[in-house]
Order: sequence, then structure tokens, then C-alpha cells
Amino acid sequence: MKGQCLYSVKDGFAILEVDNPPVNPLSEGVRVGIVDCLEKAQADSNIHGIILTGKGRSFIAGADISEFGKPPNEEIPTIHAVLEKLESSEKPVVAAINGSALGGGLETALCCNYRVSSSKGFVGLPEVNLGLLPGAGGTQRLPRIIGPSEALKMMLTGKHVPAKKAEEMGIIDKITDADVIEESIKFLHDKKNDPLPKVRDLNSKLNDVSGDEKVIVEARALAAKIRKGQFAPNKIIQCVDAAINADSFDEGMKKEQEFFIECLLNPQREAMIHIFFSERAASKIQDVPKETEIMPIKKAAIIGSGTMGGGIAMCFANAGIPVHIIDQDENNLERGVAVIKDNYDFMMNKGRIDENQKDAVMGLITSGLEYDEIADADIVIEAVYENLDLKKEIFKKLDEVVKKDAILASNTSGLDIDALAKVTNRPEMVVGTHFFSPANIMRLLEVVRAEKTSDQVLATIMSVGKKLKKAPVVSLNAPGFIGNRMLFGYTTQANKLLLEGALPHQIDSALENFGMSMGPFRMMDLVGLDLGWRARKLSKTNPPVTALINDALCEQDRFGQKTNKGFYNYKEGSRAPHPAPENEKLYEKVSEDNGYKRREISDTEIVDRCILALVNEGAKILQEGVSQRSGDMDVVYINGYGFPIWRGGPMQYANMEGLEKVSNKIDEFAKNDPDFWSKAEIIEQLSKENGRFGEAPTKEERKEKLSFNQTSVAKNF
Ligand code: 3HC
Repeated sequence: MKGQCLYSVKDGFAILEVDNPPVNPLSEGVRVGIVDCLEKAQADSNIHGIILTGKGRSFIAGADISEFGKPPNEEIPTIHAVLEKLESSEKPVVAAINGSALGGGLETALCCNYRVSSSKGFVGLPEVNLGLLPGAGGTQRLPRIIGPSEALKMMLTGKHVPAKKAEEMGIIDKITDADVIEESIKFLHDKKNDPLPKVRDLNSKLNDVSGDEKVIVEARALAAKIRKGQFAPNKIIQCVDAAINADSFDEGMKKEQEFFIECLLNPQREAMIHIFFSERAASKIQDVPKETEIMPIKKAAIIGSGTMGGGIAMCFANAGIPVHIIDQDENNLERGVAVIKDNYDFMMNKGRIDENQKDAVMGLITSGLEYDEIADADIVIEAVYENLDLKKEIFKKLDEVVKKDAILASNTSGLDIDALAKVTNRPEMVVGTHFFSPANIMRLLEVVRAEKTSDQVLATIMSVGKKLKKAPVVSLNAPGFIGNRMLFGYTTQANKLLLEGALPHQIDSALENFGMSMGPFRMMDLVGLDLGWRARKLSKTNPPVTALINDALCEQDRFGQKTNKGFYNYKEGSRAPHPAPENEKLYEKVSEDNGYKRREISDTEIVDRCILALVNEGAKILQEGVSQRSGDMDVVYINGYGFPIWRGGPMQYANMEGLEKVSNKIDEFAKNDPDFWSKAEIIEQLSKENGRFGEAPTKEERKEKLSFNQTSVAKNF
């Protein structure tokens, strides 16, 4: 049985310490342990009160997520049974919150009579991120303490609330910098003559809003804005509605149970829990030992003060790491630093940071024109525009100037990291760090492992990525890495669908209804249609058939959002797309000239072709070992490409659809377009075995024929 609860006695108080490292979830052993310890404390007449706390850095991080979806063990008390025992204790109980009290952890604390927290503690009900609702009384108890409106905000956003704020809101009775157990004992001494308060008995905050629909209407609006397509948020709102309107606390609890089970059985729960575990798995590199020493990163440097450089500098400053930006052009540098300041001003005006925080982060960012200024940096990230020769020059210079044990990283979306490593005398210290724009906001960080990158550098970058609050994912150094290589097939299919008769707004809305945050043509308009067009002109290459419409639009100065017209029309100063019927003649002409017979295309075909293009390329990436596991690619698509989290990423989507079905559809598409739809061998194989995508084959397991062929993929980029 996983986990336990330790029992000790201090000054006549029972100390119950949850011990289930590293974050103390309520696994079976913990539940059994808490019940046993409570019974022991109740039975001992020398015990005056009970202190419930957690061992290590967490109080209780919630239910054990790995238990969801498995059959329950009837012999073990449920979380509800544990909490009932806690709440009905005849002796006063304090939750001594020593760290994270999340989900079932906060729900446990809300069943105690009091909550004392260390100043480092934090609370939250993040179940919504797992496709669930707080199902151990959280939806009924939290609104009773902080009011339904604030409770709904906490539950719908899933945000963590630091102890100080939680005290102001009334969730926590006292915070302390001293030992939280000692302080909890003192607290109980002070309260010894008071009747024992129970959150379930507090009704005034619910009565205040009874009969007023505003709270529920506002919550629905919030859910629609931040949780589009998700099942659990509406159920959370229904639970709080029940808390306000049900005849009793127990009635509300019954509703919560009903809705919790609905969430548990919904496929979104499996998909979102898959992402929770995949994000954690992605930061582990199969052949890099766990004990690999992490290099200290105390000072960072960025080369280039453009949009990417500035955004990356903000990430370091936000993580408390001093960062120096250099640029060869003084005006660029001034402009770049001014943009950073504007971004922080914007955040301050929105109330996301206060003035002190702004001053603190700005204080960590310095800038200059000379390479000598960064000689002592522990990591340098080059973030100039995508030109291999320029990057090589910079790497040569960095190798000369920067201390020998510093990491040299390139922020590139596709250039060859080995080529950069080769110009230095420290190829083992060279790595790719592909941030996504805007770098200070997007969570994805593709870490590109070059041939000689050392284990220590990789382990350090993964740890830095986590410190910068990113979701780091490792890719081998192969064209397009993971994300852009998969994207290529997706946009190719979108362009083919346009040639075959679908219109941009139909394709976009089919994919947005599937859950993508932005359809491919809106995305192309945002990025700028002129980029590819100019590159093709410069290199004098003929556009592929899928780029003909793009280039014809550019010939008419339709570059996308930057010229207020592209695949869509835009009103000056607005990013809202409006269909552009004037383009339709052009689409028809290009189709006709290239032998495409335009036809009605269903939304189902649009979604299948675009999404299965991602899946098929993802499968090839997996079998080649460019990505370590299918879950890594899901993390890439959720955090970098607007794939809906509730579908679990493209590879999980295929797993849940069933690989036999996926394989049959690809066979069907291949009848009309065999070149594009060359099926990944792994799909064929898994579909026969009724299997699922999982880990990539190891180097030794990979057959020669599956080994990565850079040139075959390179032709697409
Ligand atoms: N159950 C099972 N395992 C958990 C877990 C949980 N609730 N929370 C974390 N873990 C595991 C992680 O998978 C990871 O395992 P690994 O080392 O094998 O990869 C390990 O604990 C450490 O986790 P992190 O890497 O995330 O550690 P951090 O220090 O970065 O973060 C944390 C700690 C903030 C507690 C973070 O782990 C977290 O957010 N956990 C999930 C909290 C949560 O969602 N709770 C709600 C659960 S559902 C619930 O309670 C339902 C109830 O209402 C009935």
C-alpha cells in the first residue's frame, strides 16, 4: 500500500504526519493511516487535540491521481470516509499546512476545525485541470468560507493561492514563519474554550446570494472564456448552484458526488490526466541518469534583443535569474529593452504584478553592446534571426569569449544544432532551446539534443526549463524538430482541402469546433503569408502546389493581418477575421489550373485529414526515436500549438479513437494521395495488435530501416 500516516505526541497533542513522498497524495496507505491515527488519538484521554500535517514539502497534494480509473479497493476507506471521521472528531483538529494543500488536500484541511499555514504554504482546487471537480466536499465547503463567487473563480481557474492571500480570503486562520506544528499547538491552546467550528455549518455567505443569478451567470461567462469545450467547468458551476439552493449541506454533497462521477467517466478526464503525467514524464530523459548533477545557473545572457530575445530575457528575470542582453545595434537594443518595460507595465496595469515586483524583475535585466560583458554567464542563449551562417559566427565568438564551462544554446525553430556545435571547441556544451512566441507566455520549450550534447547539459536545461515555468520536451536534432515537422503535414492538408473546394473559414471553423485554439488559415494570416513567399522568391524555388494560393494572395499585397487582408479581411486595429469572398475567384482559378475539381467537403473530412496528418507524422517521429515518447508530442501540441488539452494531444487522441480506425482512415485517404499518406509502420503494427502509442524504441531496438533519415525529411523544410 502506497503511503502512510505517522503518529507522535507532543505536549498532549497528537501529531498526524502524512508520509507519501514526494508530495503526499491521499493514496490507500495514507487513508488507512489517517483513520487509524484518528482512532488512536480519540481513544487516548491524554490527547487534547490533533494536528494534521505533511512530511516534507507538501501538506497533501490531493487524491492520488494514479488511482483514478482503477477499480476501488473495498477494504480501504474512501476519501469521503476519512474526511467524515476528521470532521466528526470530538477533539479539535488543526490542519498544519506546511506546503501545498491542493485538491483533496485542501478539502481535507476544510474538514478540520482550523487551518494554520506556514508562510510558504499554498492552497488550491486544481481538479479542473484534470477534467474533474473537487469531489471531496470542496464545491460545498469552499463557497461557505469565501463565498460562491470567489470559490467559483478558484475552482474554474484551478489557480494556486499563496498562504497570505488565502488568509485574507478567510481560508486560513493564521500564517506563520515559525514552526507550523508549534504554532498550531499554540493556536489550539488559545481556542481551547471555543466551540468547535465546522465549515459545513457556515451558511451566511450562501444566503447572501440566494435567489441572485449573477454569480452563476458570471461563472458561466468565465468558463466559456477560459475553458472552452471542457466538460468539468459546467459541472463545478452546477455543484455551487446546488450549494446555494439545495435544502441542506448533505443534499449538496450528494449532487457533488453525482457530478464527480460524471466527470470521472468522461473521456476528457483520461485525456487531461494523461497530460498531467506526460508533462512530468517529458522532463525525464531515458538515457540520462537521474542522479546527473545539475549545473548552477546564476547568470544568463541573451544574444539579440528582438521579440524572442526580449521574451526569453523576461523568462529568466521572472524566475529571479539575472540576465544580460547584448545586441550589436544600439537602437535595436534600446527598442528591445523598451518593449520589455512596456510588457511589464502592461502586466502591472492589469494587476498581475505590483510596482515592487516590476522593479525587481527590471532590476535583473541589464544590457550592452559588447561580448566581453557576458564572459561570466553560466548560460548564453543566442536568439538572432534564422540564418545559419550568422549563428555560426556568433557561436565562434561565444566560444572564444564566454567561460569554458558555460552552456551555449541556440533559440532556433529548425536549424542544425550540430552545425553550430561544430564551430566551437565545446560541442558537448551546445544545445538547442526552441522557445515559442511570445516566449514569456508560451509554455512549450523544445530542447534540442545534438549529437555531442552532454548528459549534464541536458539535465541542466530541463531543470532550468522547469524553473522558467516551461514545459520542456526533448527532441533529437532533426529537421523541424517535433512540433514544426508535425505542423507541416497539418498545414499541407489544410492547403490541399482549400484546393479541393473547402474555404478557409470552413476549414478553420471545423478545426476550431474540434477544439484547436486557432484554425490554420487564421494562424497563417497571423504569422504573415509573405514570409514563405519572400523566402521562395529569394531562393528562386518554385512554390509547391500547396503554396500557390498563398503566393497568389501575396502578389495582391494580401500578406495577412499586417496588411489587414490575407485569407481573411480585418478591420483596422482589429484581429477579428471576416471571410473574404473576393478571394474565391482566385481559389477557383488556382484549383482549375492545377487539375483540382472543387467539391463539397464535410467538416468530418477536414478534421480527420488535418489531425491524422499530425498523428501520422508524429508516429514517424516516434519510430525514428526523434521524440522519446508519444506523450512528449502531446505535451508539445498542447503547450505550443493550441491543441485542446481535453483531447489529450494528437497521439492520445489517436489512442483513444483506436489505432485500427486511424489506420483504416489513412488507407482510405491514401487511395487519392498515396505520396502524402505513406503510413507510419508503427501505426500499421499497433493497429494489428490492438496497441497504443507509448515509448519510442530505444537506439538498440530500432531496426536499421527505421533509423532516422535526415535527408528524406529535410526536403520538406
Ligand atoms: N497524485 C499522484 N501523484 C502525484 C500527485 C497526485 N495528486 N501530485 C503529484 N504527483 C507526483 C507527480 O506525478 C510526480 O511524480 P514523478 O516524480 O514520478 O514524476 C511527483 O509527484 C512530483 O510532482 P511534480 O513534479 O509535479 O512536483 P512539483 O514540486 O513540481 O509540484 C505540486 C508539486 C504543485 C503538488 C504538483 O505535483 C501538482 O500540482 N500536483 C497535482 C495537484 C492536484 O491536481 N491535486 C488534485 C488531485 S485530484 C483530487 O484531489 C480529487 C479530489 O477532489 C477528490
